[in-house]
Amino acid sequence: MVILGIETSCDETAVALLRNRRETLASLVGRQEEIHAPYGGVVPELASRRHLEVISPLFEKCLARAGLEPADIDAVAASTRPGLSGSLIVGEGFGRALAGALEKPFIPVDHLEAHLAVNFLAEKEPALPALGLVISGGHSSIYLVHAPDSYEVLGETRDDAAGETFDKVARSLGLPYPGGPPLEKLAAGAGENRVRFPLPGVARSFDFSFSGLKTAVVYHVAKNPGADRAAVAAGFQDAVAAGVRRHLEYARFNTGARTLLTGGGVLANARLRAEISAWAKEKKVSLYLPPPVNALDNALMVAARAFPEIGAKGREKIHEKQ
Ligand code: KG4
Ligand code: ZN
Repeated sequence: MVILGIETSCDETAVALLRNRRETLASLVGRQEEIHAPYGGVVPELASRRHLEVISPLFEKCLARAGLEPADIDAVAASTRPGLSGSLIVGEGFGRALAGALEKPFIPVDHLEAHLAVNFLAEKEPALPALGLVISGGHSSIYLVHAPDSYEVLGETRDDAAGETFDKVARSLGLPYPGGPPLEKLAAGAGENRVRFPLPGVARSFDFSFSGLKTAVVYHVAKNPGADRAAVAAGFQDAVAAGVRRHLEYARFNTGARTLLTGGGVLANARLRAEISAWAKEKKVSLYLPPPVNALDNALMVAARAFPEIGAKGREKIHEKQ
């Protein structure tokens, strides 16, 4: 069983080939950061045009990398929600057309569930039910994962997403888009002297909220032009990490889940990875933390989410055929 995964929900064009449950044949990601950087954020129209330009050559390259022919593909999956509609339609359209031409099934995939499903590629099978934490540029959500094909949303962000907050705070510090990586670099230069900010989140709730923290940091920077920028960046990261830990603890306590699956671009952040790892160790939670390349948007996760929809025997669970 070879599944082609396609991802075009935001500003990454990605294509991957997965064999059976966990054998990665190829996974390619085309980034567009330099196109959007001058605007300080993703410009939807530019994103969809770029997807259109690169998806076909990226698919050819992926096949060549895997040493396969189109006829070797058994099913095609693409992220169809949530995301930028003009971008999603490029991946979905390409996937449906290809599946139609090959007379193979097309499987629509939820991008956020895919961020969590990538953890099913891990060597060790996750014990379920598991908590699922997705923190990305557009979303911050917590799930209860009942099975590889069953995801229950427990809470979402009430305002800004975690990645969006990193991007806006970075911008206020004069850093380029996307803000996460340069902000992390700036924070690494901070000493012991860090600015303290309020924890993000909603106390005693599954929901996230990052706008209070964002406003506090942006105001602090505006009011203190001479502020130690590294101390601000490090203090901001500390607050995000502590807020996420508090959130995870609330979710663990209220669900009794003993496994945590994670995903989303913000998990590329070393400070956050360390905090989550320390919490999981302390609470004896079995932690699945994908390497940054699989935490950021990619298409392997899309193929991984599609796999249980097909089933080991064939196509009995396909929702939608051409
Ligand atoms: O999951 P993702 O690749 O795309 C979405 O689905 O949104 O996440 C992108 C987000 C951006 O907001 C970016 O600033 C953030 O992830 N990000 C980081 C880091 N690397 C990327 N945030 C904090 N630290 C990083 N090292
Ligand atoms: Zn994402």
